[in-house]
Amino acid sequence: MESLSEVKSSAVIQEVLANHPDAKPEDLITLLQEVQDRCGYLSRDAILSVGRHLDMPSSKIYGVATFYNQFRFRPLGRGHIQICRGTACHVKGSKKVLDALAAALDVSPNTATQDGVFSYETLACIGACGLAPVINIDGNFHANLTSQAIPGVLKQYQKQGK
Ligand code: FES
Repeated sequence: MESLSEVKSSAVIQEVLANHPDAKPEDLITLLQEVQDRCGYLSRDAILSVGRHLDMPSSKIYGVATFYNQFRFRPLGRGHIQICRGTACHVKGSKKVLDALAAALDVSPNTATQDGVFSYETLACIGACGLAPVINIDGNFHANLTSQAIPGVLKQYQKQGK
């Protein structure tokens, strides 16, 4: 049986496809981007639906989507953490912050934790070099971080009921 979020996401996928009634195979990337923007990732249902819409086999859709690292195939956590690995942050110890974060969450990048609360990714520069080393959780910057501060930052976010 489908969960409520699967039903909702299926409706969103159909809405995106309905907005592109005459889409052609060359519109594949645009469709995948729109579906991911709306659903957060590309589910199996999304791949199959886009394939049917464009009359393309799902293996071909997967092949194209996996070629581009902008596409995700699993949902992100409710709190998605961007950790900066740009030069200014690196010089100020962002590798240790990243290691502490990865150990605390115990998942690969762009994968939600078991409880669905967090996921994380590394970026080259998040445009706040003066705050280095810095992470961004849902638009909130946490500046001058140390590895020791990570558990507190995560707890603070959880306390807010996310
Ligand atoms: S290098 Fe980290 S914000 Fe720019």
